[in-house]
Amino acid sequence: MSKIPFNKPEIVGRELYYIAQAIMNGHSSGNGTFSRHAEVALEKNLENLVDVQLTTSCTSALETSALLLNVGPGDEIILPSYTFVSTANAFALRGAKLSFVDVEADTMNISVDAIARAITPATKAIVPVNYAGISCDMDALLDLAQAHDIAVCEDAAQSIGSKYKGRPLGTFGDIASFSFHETKNIICGEGGALAVRNENYIERAEIIREKGTDRSKFFRGEIDKYSWVDLGSSYILSDILSAFLLAQLEQIEDITTHRRALFYRYKENLDHLVNMAEFDLGISIVPDYNECNGHIFYITLHDTPQRQRLIAYLKERDIMSVFHYVPLHQSPYGKSHSVAERSLPVTEEKAGQLLRLPLYPSLQMDQVDTICNYVTDFFEAEKKAL
Ligand SMILES: Cc1ncc(COP(=O)(O)O)c(C=O)c1O
Repeated sequence: MSKIPFNKPEIVGRELYYIAQAIMNGHSSGNGTFSRHAEVALEKNLENLVDVQLTTSCTSALETSALLLNVGPGDEIILPSYTFVSTANAFALRGAKLSFVDVEADTMNISVDAIARAITPATKAIVPVNYAGISCDMDALLDLAQAHDIAVCEDAAQSIGSKYKGRPLGTFGDIASFSFHETKNIICGEGGALAVRNENYIERAEIIREKGTDRSKFFRGEIDKYSWVDLGSSYILSDILSAFLLAQLEQIEDITTHRRALFYRYKENLDHLVNMAEFDLGISIVPDYNECNGHIFYITLHDTPQRQRLIAYLKERDIMSVFHYVPLHQSPYGKSHSVAERSLPVTEEKAGQLLRLPLYPSLQMDQVDTICNYVTDFFEAEKKAL
């Protein structure tokens, strides 16, 4: 059997043709033809509930969100510790303190009860991360945020193609940030998008993305010169990468359907692990309110040494598996920039147990079956060794 990587960034349609066109068009920087087409395609995918502006990454979309909300020293941001560094760094850059809270053990998504306990008069925003394309109970989260008049910035880096109660994730917060990094379901190398639901932020987001200038208005012929009007940065996605992205977005239905099928095959094959009395194992679950995009399939193991053994066992069989985040509240920078030192028992325990299995567009069902057979054999051997 040939090697099964953990992820494989793949060409799925007209990427190379569109990229060549973007270069030949003579407009390869941002805000070009492909950028507009990709933004419209993404808006359509998000059921036209948000205004989409492409960015160089999800990180820059999150940084734009922090600027849009005027986050500054004295503000507190509530977020999970079990996330990628950018979720926190974007707000720390503006001088805010981070209020890390725990996740739910079954989904690794932020606990709404924990958010309720962490709210203070200084809370400026809540940043839920839709881990693995699954969400927390968005209705409960939005009710809480509304009751306290706090902004919600969804970290939708992994959410493209997922829904909550029939509505796309990334359309619930005032603002959401998507990622098209090569590890995501829809890719363009490095890229992202800001999805703005609160109309008050649309015009300023354009300015922040354009180095703090009103150049976008100038290009549309709405003003006769552009100038520096606000803080900003260089966050616009080039038309070359937008061309790559558009070709991927054209295949989003097929990509998502296939990934979802692989995800449910894993689930079906490995469901028996949760009944293995010896080890207290877990597998990805999808709450009734979500429709998932098959972004990540994971197992939670008995402990970290057992996880290391399974990684090695699969690697010997040319199958790559990868753990995920190291909790941010325990990181050197996170510790010194948190509101309070909290112990987050679920995060601390599960972060050491979670292991992701291969999932990418050209992975086949029989390969998933092979991986699952090895995983099952591994646990049978572990049982015998007890
Ligand atoms: C939850 C989360 N937020 C933000 C990011 C950052 O995305 P990007 O690499 O597009 O900046 C990632 C990337 O993996 C992520 O998983």
